[in-house]
Formats: sequence, C-alpha cells, structure tokens
Amino acid sequence: MSSLAPAAEVAIVGAGAMGTGIAQVAAKYGHRVHIFDNRIGAADAAQQRIGDALRKLASKGKLDSSEAEAAAARIVPVHALGDLVSAKLVVEAIVEDLDVKRKMFRDLEVVVTPEAVLASNTSSFSITSLAAGMKHPGRIVGMHFFNPAPILPLVEVVSGLATERAVADLVYETAKAWGKVPVHAKSTPGFIVNRCARPFYGEALRLLLENAAEATTIDAVMREAGGFRMGPFELMDLIGLDVNFAVTKSVWEAYFHDPRFAPSILQAELVAGGRLGRKSGRGFYDYAADARKPSPATESAKPRPSKITAVGDGTLVDGLRERFASAGLAVERRKASGPAHFVVEGGILAPSDGRTASSIARDAVVYDLAFDYGSCTRLAVASAAGCSDAAYAAAVGALQAAGIAVSRIGDAAGLVVMRTVAMLANEAADAVNQDVASARDVDLAMRNGVNYPVGPLAWADAIGVDHVRTVLANLAAYYGDPRYRTSPLVMRAERLTDE
Ligand code: NAI
Repeated sequence: MSSLAPAAEVAIVGAGAMGTGIAQVAAKYGHRVHIFDNRIGAADAAQQRIGDALRKLASKGKLDSSEAEAAAARIVPVHALGDLVSAKLVVEAIVEDLDVKRKMFRDLEVVVTPEAVLASNTSSFSITSLAAGMKHPGRIVGMHFFNPAPILPLVEVVSGLATERAVADLVYETAKAWGKVPVHAKSTPGFIVNRCARPFYGEALRLLLENAAEATTIDAVMREAGGFRMGPFELMDLIGLDVNFAVTKSVWEAYFHDPRFAPSILQAELVAGGRLGRKSGRGFYDYAADARKPSPATESAKPRPSKITAVGDGTLVDGLRERFASAGLAVERRKASGPAHFVVEGGILAPSDGRTASSIARDAVVYDLAFDYGSCTRLAVASAAGCSDAAYAAAVGALQAAGIAVSRIGDAAGLVVMRTVAMLANEAADAVNQDVASARDVDLAMRNGVNYPVGPLAWADAIGVDHVRTVLANLAAYYGDPRYRTSPLVMRAERLTDE
C-alpha cells in the first residue's frame, strides 16, 4: 500500500489548534491543503498562523526558506464546505461533539468523490458510531494526532467496524510519509494512548489520596527514578485538571465503570474548586508569582554503611549492586533461596514486589523501581513499622553513598514507580490481549504519544513478567480491588513484547 501522492489535495475541517497543526504537517509534505471552518475568519487566521510557524522554522534553520514559503503557499482557506470537492483525504478536527461530527460527515459525503477518505481526529468517539448511517462507512477512519501536531510524532490510525483495511493502510502510510509514527488501533474507548496512560495518573492519585507522599515527592520520584519527562501531577496541571478528568471519566464510562479506570475523588474535588492547573493559577501546585515551589521529601545525610551483602541477583538488584561497588562500598555476594535483596548492617533492603515493607520483615526497607539503577538520581523507600532506626539509616546511607537522593514515603504497597509501571504494563497487555493493537504498536504509541522512556511492555519484559505478576497479585491482595486484577496476557506470557 502506498501513501497519498503529494499531488493529491488534502482538506482540513476545523481550523482550531489541531486542524491548524495537521494542515501544516500536510502542506510541509507537499499537499495543497484546503482549510474550512464555520467560524468567520478562522480559516484565514489558520493560514496566517501556519505561514508564521513555517517561517519561524526556516529562521531557526530547521527548514529551507524557499520550502517554507512554498508550503505556506499551499494552504488555501475556503469558505464553504462545497469547496472541498477535489480533496482525496479530509481530516475532520472540529468540536468534540458526536452529533455535530456525524452531521459533518454526512455533509462531507455528498461533497467529496466516492473514493475520498474521510478521517476524524476525534480523541474519544467511536469511529464505528461516526460511520453509522453513512452511505460509504468503509472510508471513515480515525487519524488521531497529538497536540501539538507538528511536533508530536504519534498518529493513531483507528479502524471502526466498517473501516476498510485499504483505507486504514492508506492513512497509515500517509502519516508515515508525513514524517509521523503511525500505529494501527481498533476503535475502542481511549484507543491506545488515552486508555493505556490512565494508570500513570491513577496510581499517583491513589498514593496522594492515601497520604503516602506529597505531590511534589511523587513527581520527583517519577522523573528521577522512573525516567518520565514529567511527573503525573505536573502533567495534569499542564494538561488542565478539567480536561484530564473529562478524559478519565469518559474512558471509565465507556468501559461500563470498570474499576481499572475509575477517576479519583481528589481530582473531582480540585475541578469542583476551580483548581484546574496552570491555566487557573492553581492545581496540585500553586502558580502565583510569589508561590514557593515545594521541594520533594529528601532524607538528610546518613552515615555510609561499612558492609553490604547482595543476596541473589536479577535486574532489580544488579544495577544497584554495581552502583554500590563503584561508590567504593564493600559488597559481598551470596546466593539467594528466595527473592533477591540486600542486607545492610543487619537490616533488609529489598526491591518492591508490591507488598508493604511491614509485610516483608520487621527490619525491612523497600526501594522503588528505577528505569536505570545505574544512573537514577533519586529513589523512593518505605520502612516497616517495626524497623529500627539503625537498620533504616544503614539502608538510606547505602543509597546516599551511591549518589542517590532518598525520598521516604509512607509504607505504601508497590511504592510509586513499581506500581505505576506494573499497572501501565497490565493495561497495555490488556489492550494487546483484546486485539486493540499489536504489542509493537502499543509500545510505539506510548513512547511517541506520551514520551515514556520505554514502552510499558518492553519495560515489563526488562523487569521480568514474573515479577510484574507478583506485584499485581500483591496489590490486588492488599487492596482487594478488581482494579488490580491481572490481565490474562500477563498471566500467560513469558515476554509481553513477543505478542
Ligand atoms: P478547537 O476548539 O481549537 O478547534 C475546533 C475548530 O472547529 C474551531 O475553530 C471551530 O470553529 C471549528 N468548528 C466547530 N464546529 C464546526 C463545524 N460544524 N464546522 C466547521 N468548523 C467547526 O479544538 P481542537 O483542540 O483543535 O480539537 C479539535 C478536535 O481534535 C476534537 O475532536 C478534539 O477532540 C481533537 N483532539 C484534540 C486534541 C487537543 O489536545 N486539543 C488532541 C487530539 C485530538
């Protein structure tokens, strides 16, 4: 299957934030792009914005200036839907309202030729429902860009029940030709990204609700240990709590109130109070000019322990063991009969397996998952209720000696990064198990749509699917909440990326 030829005309309906961005991408590739909006002046304003954006790229040396001018000249604002008659691909990016969109597709169907493909940039509506009642439902497809469209690479190509494979393939190849990273997805609530990203927010909100740590500590741990570009609370404040809450609610409702997607009362409360994040000046954080940026909980310096024993090996202890050793700490090694861990001056320092520290041992300190134990700058730890001050100080001192800042959090099951990654992998696996997308496409989507440092399925494979199963089982036992039920794919697979 080939992509749409550059000579083919593209139409964009809806000249808002998304339509303007998508038009820029298509024009830059070489298409003549007709833009229509029913708000007077909107299409002309979009043409102006796109020209400015392209010239800015040229001034930064990212685009040849003659190419920028040529691309800008290919943008044509039109003032009637009937002017889109020669479009071979129409991308609809109008208001997110099902009835308005369905009417738009019915109107478009009588304007364009029978071979033209009609794509929707909808974030939340079923492509099947958009196509229902159309004369040619096979040519309706989702072409879901992420904001800002000229920058974020992911495009979810979404097929409804009636979408013809050739139509989805054409849109996929076209997105690729436009320099994007396309993935195929079945039309299911949230498609790939808006479904599989829910635990990123959900687990953090639950920790905050349970008072395990402050937002700023959870964010710092997710960034510095988890390798995520932004922490969940910073990101919700940026997206807007109302927008994030609406997406969460719509996915939850669309899955008939599956507890896996249940929104948090914390978020509802903030939205009710008008604390919508950056745009309202306050969300989880305060954005007033004189507001103090809170710092994450960080343990004061503890003495360097004299001896560490690494008991057993595996991805959750090897990186840390090497890091201890290169910090000059004396590390002995011993074979393990059970799960791998460290013994630091008599106390246990164990990677999280989804249990609380208190349920592991009296003197246990549990440490969180890191994307890379060799380079992380912070780790969350929790200590058992009966843990002695000496055992705790020894464990923290060891991590600090290796150059890792330590954030102590309440004795929460699965700490922060481990439970989030286990739940992200679980959701991603469930999407694969339900044939929403291939394992490859799910991981690609999460890396390119929301910038995760690695796809959740590949991450689970690196941790070991066995361990992820254990974490999920322990979370399920701790909470007794079906939210933590293990996906059948995680139950049966040795490696999730092979699916
Ligand atoms: P927007 O509000 O910036 O733009 C929508 C545009 O559509 C406006 O210019 C409006 O005048 C026009 N419009 C509304 N009804 C129309 C009609 N009947 N005929 C012609 N034009 C009409 O909205 P935005 O953010 O660009 O979103 C557009 C679509 O893209 C929505 O479906 C949204 O869910 C989806 N989307 C939005 C993302 C975002 O982050 N903003 C990300 C991915 C998808």
